[in-house]
Amino acid sequence: MQNYAQVARDFVERHATGLTVAVFAGVLALRRWLAGGVCRSKVRLDGKTVLITGANTGIGKETAHGYGARVILACRDITRARIAADEIRLRSGNGNVVVKKLDLASLQSVRDLAKEVQENEDRLDILINNAGIMMCPKWTTEDGFEMQFGVNHLGHFLLTNCLLDLLKKSTPSRVVIVSSLAHEKGHIHFDDINLDKDYKREGSYRQSKLANVLFCRELAARLQGTGVTAYSLRHLFPTLALWKKSIIMPFLMMIKSPWEGAQTTIYCAVDESVANDSGLYYSDCAPKTAAPQALDDAAAKKLWDLSASMVGLA
Ligand SMILES: *[C@@H]1O[C@H](CO)[C@@H](O)[C@H](O)[C@H]1NC(C)=O
Repeated sequence: MQNYAQVARDFVERHATGLTVAVFAGVLALRRWLAGGVCRSKVRLDGKTVLITGANTGIGKETAHGYGARVILACRDITRARIAADEIRLRSGNGNVVVKKLDLASLQSVRDLAKEVQENEDRLDILINNAGIMMCPKWTTEDGFEMQFGVNHLGHFLLTNCLLDLLKKSTPSRVVIVSSLAHEKGHIHFDDINLDKDYKREGSYRQSKLANVLFCRELAARLQGTGVTAYSLRHLFPTLALWKKSIIMPFLMMIKSPWEGAQTTIYCAVDESVANDSGLYYSDCAPKTAAPQALDDAAAKKLWDLSASMVGLA
């Protein structure tokens, strides 16, 4: 009588190398699939300046090391930003990394940072609106706006507008807006933009991410012919189904490195192939059709006007 366990053991022993290779290949394929596209641009950014909101070391490292840019990390938490800056310097050997204070939940802080940058920087080639707050309770910004819309959209809306002159002086230049797949289920509540009547953290997040895509669209339209182009994107995880299964999130985090998570952002920020495109939405280092409500030009314009009046730009 054959013992099945023994047969299995024999099989594993005999085919150990093959099995190891197969498991390895499987893990690599899974990693590859989760990683999405990779930016293969060989462009150099020496002498150019990139401003990134939020202490994203993946984007910072890549732009500083891979492309040689001067990198400004604009962050609320200076301690965290300094740690990120040190890590970027260490890994990249590029000492040209600076930290500046920016609290996107405060219009005053946004204006202060923009003024500081305008006064002290010769140029701004790439602005990456990367910082974001996700699914928080019903909090409000310093100026009384609902927090997710205030930080993810309004703060960046004001920051971008305040830095436009410097971007226009540095053409060709780019504005990269990090949105999310969550925009697909988003809805702009024009009649209750702060969601006072019915606050849901997911709905608020989706509204703010839809606002990111609409902002990019209207910004691109307004900047046509100026040499400043705009891009919105989603990054990180390939499908919402996976995203929803929060139990596997830590696992995804582990195998999807910050470098991989930053690839579409890097692609939109530096890749030559998109130099003449503007106003589009990207995923996995390729253009992707955004949700129908994100392609609505009238809504994009309406959102711009509303945002401008909210932040006092109108
Ligand atoms: C972008 O436009 C410029 C000027 O028309 C052209 O020289 C360049 O090849 C274009 N780049 C791409 C990637 O299409």
